[in-house]
Amino acid sequence: MRTTRLLGSAELDASPVVANIAMNRGRRLASYSRELGLNLAGLLPGASWLDLCCGEGHALAEAAMLGADVTGVDLVGHFAVPPGKNVELVVAAVPGWRPARKFDLVTAVHGLHYVGDKLKFLADVAGWLTDHGRFAASFDVASVHTESRRKLLATLRSQGFVYDSRKKLISRTGPAAIELPYEYLGADDKAGPNYTGQPAVVSHYRVYVDCTNPDS
Ligand SMILES: C[S@@+](CC[C@H](N)C(=O)[O-])C[C@H]1O[C@@H](n2cnc3c(N)ncnc32)[C@H](O)[C@@H]1O
Repeated sequence: MRTTRLLGSAELDASPVVANIAMNRGRRLASYSRELGLNLAGLLPGASWLDLCCGEGHALAEAAMLGADVTGVDLVGHFAVPPGKNVELVVAAVPGWRPARKFDLVTAVHGLHYVGDKLKFLADVAGWLTDHGRFAASFDVASVHTESRRKLLATLRSQGFVYDSRKKLISRTGPAAIELPYEYLGADDKAGPNYTGQPAVVSHYRVYVDCTNPDS
């Protein structure tokens, strides 16, 4: 039986599963629209867009040409497009990096699979949306290890997230200040391929018990 060794953030960021050069970082805007089930070319003109785990940034550059104000964040700086007046490109890890503004659209296309603290990522993003701002990301709940995934999904739903288990998408509309009652324990980069067929990271949590609350 395999012994699970949980990695902290520095080890995870250097893991070959996360920082490899073979993964597809080159999706265009039409591909993003298909992946997320959104008409991005219709949504983006005049809008602000934050793309987390943005890869090479092609979709962002196309959106900027349509009149969007775009920010891309990625752990590695393999950007294939230049920054510009409406194009900000940031090399940083999420969670960790924080924006100085809110966005009409926040996305992560096949990025959360490699993130350590996925629940903090989701909670952070909820605070970065404008009043009617939308969030959509590729997400497989099987990549979260905790006592009960059913209870986790119920908690996420109670906080305004929508999870589509068939399309492996998580989304929400509108901002919220969210604290999820889960303690992050670390990430397993040896869990093997996920539904995409690529090796992915499983994030481990335990339910946070508030000792000051007799009902918890
Ligand atoms: C499969 S690629 C997808 C890139 C892009 N969204 C696309 O669809 O073309 C996943 C990206 O997530 C980035 N990534 C992984 N972990 C990250 C983290 N903790 N913070 C920011 N970016 C991360 C990787 O560097 C990689 O560029």
